[in-house]
Amino acid sequence: MATIPLLPLNSGHWIPQLGIGTYRMDDATARRAVREALAMGYRHIDTAQMYGNEAAVGQAIAESGVDREDIFLVTKLDNPNHAPRAVRETFARSLAQLGTDYVDLFLIHWPMLSGDYVEAYQVMEEFVADGRALAIGVSNFERHHLEALRFAAQIQPAVNQIEAHPYFQNAEVTQYCTDAGIRVEAWAPLARGAVNDDAVLAELAAAKGCTVAQLVLLWHLSRGRIVFPGASSAAHLAENLACLDFTLLKEEAEEIDNMDRFEAGRTGRHPDTFRRNGE
Ligand SMILES: NC(=O)c1ccc[n+]([C@@H]2O[C@H](COP(=O)([O-])OP(=O)(O)OC[C@H]3O[C@@H](n4cnc5c(N)ncnc54)[C@H](OP(=O)(O)O)[C@@H]3O)[C@@H](O)[C@H]2O)c1
Repeated sequence: MATIPLLPLNSGHWIPQLGIGTYRMDDATARRAVREALAMGYRHIDTAQMYGNEAAVGQAIAESGVDREDIFLVTKLDNPNHAPRAVRETFARSLAQLGTDYVDLFLIHWPMLSGDYVEAYQVMEEFVADGRALAIGVSNFERHHLEALRFAAQIQPAVNQIEAHPYFQNAEVTQYCTDAGIRVEAWAPLARGAVNDDAVLAELAAAKGCTVAQLVLLWHLSRGRIVFPGASSAAHLAENLACLDFTLLKEEAEEIDNMDRFEAGRTGRHPDTFRRNGE
């Protein structure tokens, strides 16, 4: 099996380009899926305070037998926790739940409308200084949020985790990030499973001899995005990893580029109108 590519971050660290996402996984599912993923060779795990499964992810890592330093572990600050004291308290709690003394990447989950993300981010810079976060970044940030940080922050975000898939390619934010040296992570890379029902993608995948999920993941990788599909079954985890056995042709990638439905393809909330909760 091909090895998972590593991409350099502006922090000087390297991130595995393919990982496992754990959104909507209850504790038992997250614990089993992360353990299975690590046994198969996955080394990048995406969780969040909001998902409520950090302790299960931590248990899975402990049970896996894989050295902590070989795993790229990501968690995110929940929306109600932007006040400086809450950032400090909940980050310490996340580390305790994950059973580790550092994370590889800590993200602001959503900017929210309150505008307090700059202050929250400045507190997160302390965690880089004290070694409890190797890198920090953001999620669901639009261009104007990133520009606000550019002037206020000492450390530029290593990544921006944004919704991106064939139907919503988020091209403007992606271009801004690329120009600024911020890696793009695609959440809902499979459009939450909707790509599986697409006749055009099915035809492309059949001609190639791979599955639709594999085709779409390959397309993300070819476009330089970092992906961590939510896969709760061992069969899906194995299938997603095996996308690395295929090579995407330029014409195939371009055909998927042309499937963008722009705003109409968005499955989640628009960051500029999102006030509370969500994902
Ligand atoms: N920052 C944010 O605001 C944000 C928002 C949403 C998600 N995320 C992160 O991004 C990750 C991925 O997003 P997501 O989980 O919402 O959506 P997704 O990865 O696009 O889709 C997940 C769905 O695809 C299915 N699937 C996975 N592999 C498959 C395969 N090989 N064949 C067919 N179906 C397959 C899964 O089914 P099974 O479970 O049955 O395998 C699940 O129903 C999340 O887990 C989370 O870590 C972040």
